[in-house]
Amino acid sequence: MTQPIPAGAQPTGVGAEPSAREQSAREQALVDRVVASFDDTPDERLRTLMQSLTRHLHAFVREVRPTETEWQRAIDFLTAVGHITDDRRQEFILLSDVFGISMQTVQVNNEARADATEATVFGPFFVADAPFVENGGDIANGAPGQPCWVQGRVTSIDGSPVADARLDVWEADDDGFYDVQYTDDRTAARGFLVTDANGEYRFWALTPTPYPIPHDGPVGELLSAVHRSPMRASHLHFMAQAAGLRTLVTHIFVDGDPLLDADSVFGVTDSLIKRFEFHEAGSPTPDGRVVEGPWSQVRFDIVLAPA
Ligand code: BEZ
Ligand code: FE
Repeated sequence: MTQPIPAGAQPTGVGAEPSAREQSAREQALVDRVVASFDDTPDERLRTLMQSLTRHLHAFVREVRPTETEWQRAIDFLTAVGHITDDRRQEFILLSDVFGISMQTVQVNNEARADATEATVFGPFFVADAPFVENGGDIANGAPGQPCWVQGRVTSIDGSPVADARLDVWEADDDGFYDVQYTDDRTAARGFLVTDANGEYRFWALTPTPYPIPHDGPVGELLSAVHRSPMRASHLHFMAQAAGLRTLVTHIFVDGDPLLDADSVFGVTDSLIKRFEFHEAGSPTPDGRVVEGPWSQVRFDIVLAPA
């Protein structure tokens, strides 16, 4: 038998709707209060960043509605990211990398300009005081790997050569390690060159090979939980600096590398994929150097945007 509805009560069924509306209103009111708490931030940019971050974080929580246990798991994860981070290991950067946020930050800061060479992620293995290497020299310094002759020209977007540009170059060895990951203090597979009067440069390096980003920490656990590989596509890092021109941080990638579509940090762009020519042992080299075994060569012309 139908019960009489007490005066003032909502009819059954209709009551759910005002309750959902009330819930949403409470959630929105909290967002509004938190956003407003930043209203008096004197630094306008900081205010924009904090208010936007608040809106996006609350939108995420309201969309996925994490349980309190899930939220605690997230806090534990970030705590672990902090604990493993020190002067040599930067797990927060790795986290930003595997979300594609490092690459997106590079993209928003390097708006496409004419035919300027594209930028990509910096990575954690740059060293500021790398050794100077003469044009034609070898950056390997004993690091294991197949020799690779790298040459190119640095120009500005109007095509004029950029003399005296500083080119820092660094890469992993054949075992997948950068020198900063060695247990001794050796410097290897890195250096800096200076372009000649024609904007040209040339050096011996190692044919790039694939390697994993550090994956023995929380970011590695995350990748494995979501069935993603930590591997990076084979690459050679460059940083090009010249007076009056925008500093370029980039890599070149090896055409045909099967990892090009699966780079763990989303650093690959089509324009940075270069054709490496592979040569048999004993083939003459561009500078007459006698190389034992097979070697490769690649050309990378760099176009720098105005500052
Ligand atoms: C790298 O290319 O060296 C690198 C980039 C992002 C994360 C880890 C390594
Ligand atoms: Fe790298």
